[in-house]
Amino acid sequence: MVRQAVIPVAGWGTRVLPATKSLPKPLLPVADLPTIYYVVEEAVQSGVEHIVFVTSRHMRAVEDFFDENPELTRTLEAKKNTAMLDRLHHIETMAHFSFVRQAQPLGLGHAVLMAREAIGHDAFALLLGDDLMWSPDGVPCLQRMIDVYNQRHASVIATMPVPDADVSRYGIIAGERIGPQLMQVRDMVEKPPLAEAPSNQAVVGRYVLTPEIFDILAHTPPGRGGEIQITDGLCSLLAQQPIFAYEFAGQRYDTGDTVGWLTTSIAYALRRPEFAPGLKAYLRTLDLAE
Ligand code: G1P
Repeated sequence: MVRQAVIPVAGWGTRVLPATKSLPKPLLPVADLPTIYYVVEEAVQSGVEHIVFVTSRHMRAVEDFFDENPELTRTLEAKKNTAMLDRLHHIETMAHFSFVRQAQPLGLGHAVLMAREAIGHDAFALLLGDDLMWSPDGVPCLQRMIDVYNQRHASVIATMPVPDADVSRYGIIAGERIGPQLMQVRDMVEKPPLAEAPSNQAVVGRYVLTPEIFDILAHTPPGRGGEIQITDGLCSLLAQQPIFAYEFAGQRYDTGDTVGWLTTSIAYALRRPEFAPGLKAYLRTLDLAE
């Protein structure tokens, strides 16, 4: 059973500045919802009940988004806008939310370690807020990974093949294929130069982790970029336990840079019946030949 998730949201989003100067990156809108909503929704649809956000001092608006707002509630009640009241109530109650702080940006591995006390001794999901995973069959990527965890009782990371040109932007795994979408991981390396990459299977932002990772992260020295890397922690975990890689076959959207975020917003809006006709009508007027 995986009932808890960690979502690190402490970073500035320097690749989307100046938009993220005062608006936390997780709140950048994708259609009519903040990016982070879709990540939380994937976790909840996969059975997660408790979400631990790892935040920083400029991320209070993320807490506010998932908390009740009595003043707004009164305004919507006065306008008799029950549809929006219902939507907001759903967001505020879709999971139990906890918030822990990462005081200094010491890396993704360090951010995960900050959630240790909130999570306790259970296996947990880790979802990175930049990555939105679209499953054409409606079964969330994380749900599929939890299915693997339930069978194997070992950590599971999501991967996708990437072109050679992108290999150095990701954690890359080496391993043996043991099923159509399943590999057993033998090694991992964080953002290797292409010449040193053991494959083109890139880690995308979903993990199911056994709690032993916390002890390991507490002793993991800074790695690439001078940061404590989850990938390095997972390499150490490999010496103790097997790790599996679930190859995601759906569509991944990276909202971490401006073109990626704009693309994601258009793609998600086009899937919404209330927005698609108007947006399509505009897109059809564009001369995209240039
Ligand atoms: C992180 C991980 C990396 C992974 C990537 C997926 O990197 O460290 O292993 O491939 O997320 O999005 P970041 O993009 O935060 O630098």
